[in-house]
Amino acid sequence: MTMTQPSASPSSALRVSRPASSLNGKIAVPGDKSISHRALMFAALAKGETRIVGLLEGEDVLRTAAAMRALGAKISREDDGRWHVHGCGLGELQEPADVLDMGNSGTAARLLSGLLASHGIMSVMTGDASLRRRPMKRVMDPLAGTGATFLAREGGRLPLAIQGNEQPAPLSYRLPVASAQVKSAVLLAGLNAEGVTQVEEPVPTRDHTENMLRHFGAHVTVDETPDGGRIIRLEGKPRLVARDVTVPGDPSSAAFVLVAALLVPGSDVVISNVGLNLLRTGLFTTLREMGGRLDILDERTEGGEPVGDLHVRASSLQAVDVPADRAPSMIDEYPILAVAAAYATGISRLRGLEELRVKESDRLASTVALLENNGVRTRIDGDDLIIHGTGGHIPGGGLVETHMDHRLAMSASVLGLVTEKPVDIDDTAFIDTSFPGYFTLMNSLGAGFSA
Ligand code: S3P
Repeated sequence: MTMTQPSASPSSALRVSRPASSLNGKIAVPGDKSISHRALMFAALAKGETRIVGLLEGEDVLRTAAAMRALGAKISREDDGRWHVHGCGLGELQEPADVLDMGNSGTAARLLSGLLASHGIMSVMTGDASLRRRPMKRVMDPLAGTGATFLAREGGRLPLAIQGNEQPAPLSYRLPVASAQVKSAVLLAGLNAEGVTQVEEPVPTRDHTENMLRHFGAHVTVDETPDGGRIIRLEGKPRLVARDVTVPGDPSSAAFVLVAALLVPGSDVVISNVGLNLLRTGLFTTLREMGGRLDILDERTEGGEPVGDLHVRASSLQAVDVPADRAPSMIDEYPILAVAAAYATGISRLRGLEELRVKESDRLASTVALLENNGVRTRIDGDDLIIHGTGGHIPGGGLVETHMDHRLAMSASVLGLVTEKPVDIDDTAFIDTSFPGYFTLMNSLGAGFSA
């Protein structure tokens, strides 16, 4: 086995080889990205001071902090790592003096659109080249019903100008795609609208918006529909009061450590304080179905969300067939699951992946390229991805293009830990959007990354 070698290309490029030893130890991953965005936004709308413990200090969330400051909230970070937010109050957002740059973050852009549509201010939002390619029509269409006006580029792409409506109408909307971001944008617009805002989702998606709005004092009800969907209702104009928030570790970040530990022979790792919201843990179910040795220790509730410690040991994995209705609960985990499936024995089928095409990259195409360029056979069949597992013998030796996608970069780095030849990654810089300190943390377990 060789140690990871530095690549000859620019500093954010990386060559990954098999580590000299197994992965061992106990670590904690950074705070949950979805919960962190929401904590900052809701605290900025509440009256009083909110303290946030465990906020993810990744680029995406820092963009939300900057945007909420530009809209009038006072946000600071103390030396002990706690964040303090003095909200300006619902309906009191101020017109930003400049363009709001949401960087790489679809969640920040989509959720914020809901807030901006329902405040009588004019704003312009943009993002990096990846975010400027992503569809905003999915939020503009329902939000136009509030009476707000949107002006975007061809195909509903950023930059986007929003003239919000001071007296927004409450919306009633059935989601055409399973998207927590669209659901949240509609609910957030409903905060400043008189009356009840209603969203129906055919398949349940992550419910952090509903949970945290309640935490801040809003009245939100959720009813199950006979076909397994949900109807969420929010009473407009709630009195949002500052409440402290504790952010659990992000299960979507834990996923990379988890799969690395399952695949690298002899590994034994504990990841502490991971969020276990059932609408986020589809990957854990899937990896167990594959034969992964994954135990949850000390399950508890913290800050209104279930959390626990994940104990994971290297395992021999079998192929899996993942049903389409599981996709919302593991939507960000398909690239890393694909790496596990490439290592496993047998042919896996991951169903219903159409939403992957509109992530930070076209993740269906980039995941296929990640595997194919490293000697793994794949096939796309409609919206399903089929992966021919190698039974632990992934050739490697390919270059992975990450297309400004943090999860592609981390998936490629895990792949390189178990391939026969090293894997080259063109750009790892975007990992900082969701998982600052990724390489240091993985190296503390023995990964031997050179970055
Ligand atoms: C998120 C929802 C998901 C997910 C994203 C975070 C959220 O997107 O991919 O990383 O915080 O609401 P969609 O809701 O668009 O599927």
